[in-house]
Amino acid sequence: MIKGALFDLDGVIADTSRYHFQAWQQLVQSQWQKKLPATFEQQTKGVSRTDSLQKIITFLQINVTEEEFNNLLAIKNKMYLRLLADLTPANILPGITTLLSNLRHQKIKIALASASQNAPLILKKLNLLSSFDYLADPTKVKAGKPAPDIFLEAAAGIKIHPQDCFGLEDSIAGIDAINAAEVFSVGVGSQTELHAANLLFATTNDISLDTIEQKFK
Ligand code: BG6
Ligand code: MG
Repeated sequence: MIKGALFDLDGVIADTSRYHFQAWQQLVQSQWQKKLPATFEQQTKGVSRTDSLQKIITFLQINVTEEEFNNLLAIKNKMYLRLLADLTPANILPGITTLLSNLRHQKIKIALASASQNAPLILKKLNLLSSFDYLADPTKVKAGKPAPDIFLEAAAGIKIHPQDCFGLEDSIAGIDAINAAEVFSVGVGSQTELHAANLLFATTNDISLDTIEQKFK
């Protein structure tokens, strides 16, 4: 029986994932007058800001000092926050509000397992803070996605065994993290990218708690 639900945020609860990539594009353009290929987006999805920047500078074959690296992270976050300025509950992805209320009715505990340090701010803007029993803090875990740590921390926060939870993700790194945590993985997106998910829905609007319950081990 499902006792816990562990949510990713960007690309699952709100369509903020594309803003992350837009901000990285702005950073790369303003600093080095280069363009990241669109195919690079999936490589940074679900990945912490530090690991994302590391991937980007490796891809662009650029060397930066530690101080410059930290400065670039701060600039990217400023750009990202600017893109979030107009975020309101209208930006909650279709089907998510219903899913959250169905989970609540069934007394299933709900935790956030996002890599984003901006998650509390975003949930506040979406008016969803009270929908969560626990927010796992990505700065408190050792390794980011695809490591299982954030999902294990989220399950521990709601005091539910990982194997009694399902996790919801839109990124390859996120599905790998859920699987590594031995949590039932539910993907939202394409079969090509998220083939490792235990169960897949094409969009958030297709997510059905009944189907998850039927397929759950
Ligand atoms: C994830 C996003 O949810 O959060 C990544 O998919 C992002 O793209 C990561 O890098 C960290 O987010 P933030 O808000 O702490 O920079
Ligand atoms: Mg995501």
